[in-house]
This record gives sequence, C-alpha cells and structure tokens, in this order.
Amino acid sequence: MSRIAYVNGQYLPHRHASIHIEDRGYQFADGVYEVVTIVNGKMIDEEGHMERLWRSLGELQIDAPMKAGPLKMIMREVVRRNGVVNGIIYLQITRGVAPRDHPFPKNTTPALVMTAKRLSMDKSERTAQAGVNVVTVPDIRWDRCDIKSVSLLPNVLAKQAAKDKNAYEAFQVDKNGMVTEGSSTNAWIVNQDGKVITRPTSNEILAGITRASLLRELEKKGVEFELRSFTVEELHNAREVFLTSSTSYVLPVVKVDEHVIGNGNPGSISVTLRQIYRDFMEDAS
Ligand SMILES: Cc1ncc(COP(=O)(O)O)c(C=O)c1O
Repeated sequence: MSRIAYVNGQYLPHRHASIHIEDRGYQFADGVYEVVTIVNGKMIDEEGHMERLWRSLGELQIDAPMKAGPLKMIMREVVRRNGVVNGIIYLQITRGVAPRDHPFPKNTTPALVMTAKRLSMDKSERTAQAGVNVVTVPDIRWDRCDIKSVSLLPNVLAKQAAKDKNAYEAFQVDKNGMVTEGSSTNAWIVNQDGKVITRPTSNEILAGITRASLLRELEKKGVEFELRSFTVEELHNAREVFLTSSTSYVLPVVKVDEHVIGNGNPGSISVTLRQIYRDFMEDAS
C-alpha cells in the first residue's frame, strides 16, 4: 500500500507529493510543525497539539491555512488513507511560496503538508523493556552562526523587525550587549578616531565573503582596521557605520535606532570603502 500524503488540498502518493522550490519552509525554515501520536486509530492529545500549533503560528504571524475543524478532518483522513492504527501523523505549515527575500512576504497562502506513518507498538515495548542510552552534548541551538545554514528563521524575524521600523537591516546584539552581525550582512563601524572595526570571525557570525575581500583590500591599501567586538553604545556613537554582503556590497548606514550617524549622510570613509570594493569587483569580473 503506497503511503499517501496531503499536500495543499490534494491526497497524493509520496512519490508525487512535492512542494515548490521557493517554499519558505525549504528556504528559510519559516514554518511550524506538529507530530501527533495515533493509538488504535485515534489521535492522542489532539487538543494540546492544536493549541500549540495555533500558538506557534501566531508567534510567527503565519495565517492558519484553515480552521481547526477542517484541519482535524484532514488529519483523520490522512490516518485513514494510510491505514495507520498505531503510529504518528506529521503536519507542517509554512508561510508559503514567495520570491526569496528574508522579510515576511505579503499575501502568501500558507502551505500545508501532512504525512502519516505506522509504528509498531510491539517494537516500542521491546525498546522500553531494554531501556535506552543517552549522551550529553552542549546545547548549541543555535550557536553555529558560522554555518551558512538554511535555518534562517531567526534571521527572518530580525529582518522583519527591521522592516517593521522602516529600516533596511537589523544588527543583532548578543547577551553581553555586543553587536554580532546583521540578519544577512556583516556589521562595521568607524570609531571617532577613524579606525575601521568589525567583529572577528567565530561561531557567532557568518564569515562574510564580502567582509573578507574588503579586509584584504584594506590590508593591501594600508588602511588600518581592528578585528574586535563592539558595543551597541559604540555603534550608536560611531563616526560612521556600514554593512557588507554579496547583495549590498559596502553599504553606508546613516541611522541606527534613534541615533543619526555623523551628519546623517554616508560617511566619507564608508563611501571610499564602497568605491574600493566596487573597484575590486570590477577588477575581478
Ligand atoms: C547572517 C549573515 N551574515 C553575513 C552575511 C554576508 O555574507 P556575504 O558577504 O558572504 O554575502 C550574510 C549573507 O547572506 C548573512 O546571511
């Protein structure tokens, strides 16, 4: 019996069940899910799962694809079509399909996928009788910003926070009040002494390729810079601020929170560094 999945209104064999390549779940992990136990064909703790699902959707401002009633009916139908007596049902809702861009897109239809799987109660009992082993690992959820992973939900939320305040980017701040990086850019300041400063690479930021190339160009040109973390206060009081990324190149920042940077126009060093980077790109192309 081939397994049947529910995908956006259709019941399909798994081999034909697919989602769009620009689904935000696929590109940004911008979605939520639930796994519900099925015992003797019945869903266990259905209401608890529904409540948590609605809460998760609400927190991410994703519209529910339908009301709870019809959703539960589809869940039962997926269980029935897969002949699951004991097992699980998996349900995933993403923000839907939109051209890739971090902030929440407007007017997308949430995508809904469900699958069901049989599990053997006997096997579960045998495992329980023997007991299982556990190991400890550091809780690094998510402490590996150096990996260019598609788990971009925190970055999406940061970019949306920027958009909500009519800002281009959000610079993220760690627990010690130090600036880490933008949601999709690296953060830089020029302090009152004219020194260019950016955070050193570590697991706390993505090692931007633009950042690295700009540093190399600065070295070649003998422009002094310092690789160190800087505080939000230093950011607010910087002579200049700019950001770097493959999409934005070197981009001057003229306001951070309520603080106007310099005289509110792109600073001269940022403008020069942008030109240096533009020249580097010209030479490399
Ligand atoms: C979190 C984060 N930091 C920094 C950057 C800048 O990296 P790059 O210069 O390689 O584009 C990006 C780019 O997407 C990013 O997602």
